[in-house]
Parts: sequence; structure tokens; C-alpha cells
Amino acid sequence: MKQIQLSRNVVDDISFGAIVKIRDQLLEMQRAGKKVYRLESGDPSFPIPEHVRLAIEDALKKNRTHYTDSTGIPELRKAIAEKLVKKNGIRSATPENVLVSNGGMNALYITFRSLIAPGEKVIIPDPMWTEIAEIIKLADGIPIRIPVERYVEEMRKYENDDRVRAVFINSPHNPTGYVFGEKQISDIIDFAESKGIFIVSDEAYEDVIFDGLKHLSPGSLYDDTISLFSMSKSYAMSGLRIGYAHTSNEILYDRMKKLLRCTINGVNSATQYGAVAALTGPQDYIGEMRKEYQKRRDIIYEAVSESRYLEPIKPHGTFYLWNRIKEYPPGVSDSWGMTSYLLEKTGVGSSPGPVFGPAGEGYIRFAFSAATDHIQEAADVLRNF
Ligand SMILES: Cc1ncc(COP(=O)(O)O)c(C=O)c1O
Repeated sequence: MKQIQLSRNVVDDISFGAIVKIRDQLLEMQRAGKKVYRLESGDPSFPIPEHVRLAIEDALKKNRTHYTDSTGIPELRKAIAEKLVKKNGIRSATPENVLVSNGGMNALYITFRSLIAPGEKVIIPDPMWTEIAEIIKLADGIPIRIPVERYVEEMRKYENDDRVRAVFINSPHNPTGYVFGEKQISDIIDFAESKGIFIVSDEAYEDVIFDGLKHLSPGSLYDDTISLFSMSKSYAMSGLRIGYAHTSNEILYDRMKKLLRCTINGVNSATQYGAVAALTGPQDYIGEMRKEYQKRRDIIYEAVSESRYLEPIKPHGTFYLWNRIKEYPPGVSDSWGMTSYLLEKTGVGSSPGPVFGPAGEGYIRFAFSAATDHIQEAADVLRNF
């Protein structure tokens, strides 16, 4: 069929999930009757908390199915503000400067779109969850990638670059599971403060943190932080698509509000009532989930430590295991090759490091968010790889 010609636009420069390619390969193997292990991408295996499900059902029964304020229902904004003050120490949070988004992803989009003027730069870690650089590009910005292990030292090179508008922090960090320490966060704040720029803090994994470490919100120390959260990981609400953001900058908040209005015009109403229940109800769910993830982390970390080809780097947060390729099998010379080889030989799906940025070459990532039995089985296979 003849199609109308389109002019090139910014979306043409956005990659379409390299992980999709691996997923398709996995599904094909599955269809062919082969046993596969889905460790290529992360989605919590847990059901949502019972009281959250009941709150959503109750909202539907009460016909709370109409348009809501596009920044979120007042009850939810109040619950978010209270949570941010109490749990995250973000003292400036009020129902008037938080907003509800369609997952953390949407919060990231409206943040960068509101923050950046064309050609301005944002410093991000390398490697980094793929979508961050793409969203910055979509917002007409330029992502500047800095190796995560030298993040603080190397960002100082940009001290005199007036085009840098923000520094991005994601702790715990996807894909490495790295948790930024207090000193690093305070050094990043010093850098941002001296330059008069923002910090964008993606705290999607604030609750998936191990070994007794405590999550630290940069927004509790630096007012010019835009703090972003997701309910996908903390309450396994990934498919319900809900997250939230806070900024005490009024101009920015106004812009973000306009973007919400002109894009999603509010998260679906019933989910918002579920989110109120999640934030104001019992929080023991989080502790139990964290314990189970830590168990999975230990299972897979110990197994991969014995493998011939991979050296795992112990994550202190998230549900990802980042692995250095210490030896390449014959005929394999890069991360993509290793991902395919691993899949063919063992049925284990993984993500090649370079999808997260150039620093990812020589690495592959496993997600351990699947059920513990599944992780155990995959670990048994990986131990002998
Ligand atoms: C680092 C990071 N930020 C944000 C998100 C957004 O998650 P969601 O849109 O489901 O809230 C993800 C999802 O995987 C993530 O890994």
C-alpha cells in the first residue's frame, strides 16, 4: 500500500527497546518447546497487596470512574506529601507541589520536557537504564554519560559548561544495583549547588535495597531536586501504571502540570484509590518483598560466582545482577554475542550491557524479579555455565 511520506522528527532518533529483540528470541524458543528462563527484563513477581486490590475494587463499585484532577486526586496527593516528608525527609512536600504520573516513566518524561531548553545537557551515569537517555533526547536535550564508578570525579569536568542543566541520580541504580553513598550524594549536591543546577533523582527502587542499607533521598538535602518515585517496584503495581513526582520549583511544577493535562490528563481513577491504600495502609509488604528479593539476589549471585565466563558484581539494591564477562567462549567476542550464546546453550535470557550505554560493553545483566523457584532453577543452570 502506498504510504504518505513523513518528515524526519525527533522520535526517529529514539531506539526501540533492544531488549525486545531478546524477548522475541526467548518467546520463539519457548514456542519451540524449549525450557527458557526469563531473566532479560524486570517485573515484580508478587501480586499487589490485598488491601490495595480491595481499594481498587471498592473504587469501581462506588463508580469512582470519572475524570480526576490531572495532577491526582486530593487524597492521594495528601498521602504522597505525607509519605515524602515522613519516609524520605523531603520537608517541603505538600499536596500542592506533588503530582501523580502514569508510572515513573511518565514522571521522567514530564520532568525532562519541563526542565530542558533545546540543546541543554543532563549528566547521567553510564551504564544507565536505556530509557533515561532516550527521554532526555525526546525533550530536545543532550545526555552526557559519565562512568558510574567515577561519577562524582568526572562530572567536575563540566564545572564551567553553562549548557549543563541537571545531574541525574538513580539510586539504587539500574542496571548495576549500585547504591550511592551519603558522601557521593553530598558531593553531587555540592556540584549542583555551586553550578546552580537541578538534581533529578529517580527513586524507583527506593524500597528494593539490601544488606540493611538505608535509602537516602537527595531531596531531603537539596531543595532544587526533582524527586521521582514509582509504585511499580514498591508495591508490585507495574501494570497499574502509577508514580509520582515532587518539586518545590513553582515554574517547573506549573510546566509539569500542563504536560500532564495535555498528555495523560490524569492516571486512571481506580488505581489512584489503590495507591492511597498502598501509601497509608500497613507497610509490612515492603519488608517481606525486600527479604525475598535479597534471597533471590544471594541465590543467583552465588551461582554465577561459580560460572566460568561471568563475574557477578554484588548488587546492594534493585533486582538486577550486573556481570563482567571474564572469558569469552570460542567464536564470541562481545556482550551481544554472549547474550545469544548464553541463550542458545542454557535457555537463560539476559540483557547485553551496551543497551545501557557504551560502558556496558563487556557486561550482561540478569533480572532476578521472577519467582524464587524460577531464579533457583536458572541459578542451577548458570552455575555450570
Ligand atoms: C531506573 C528506573 N526508573 C524508572 C522506571 C519506571 O518504572 P515505571 O514506569 O513502571 O514506574 C524503571 C522501570 O524499570 C527503572 O528501571
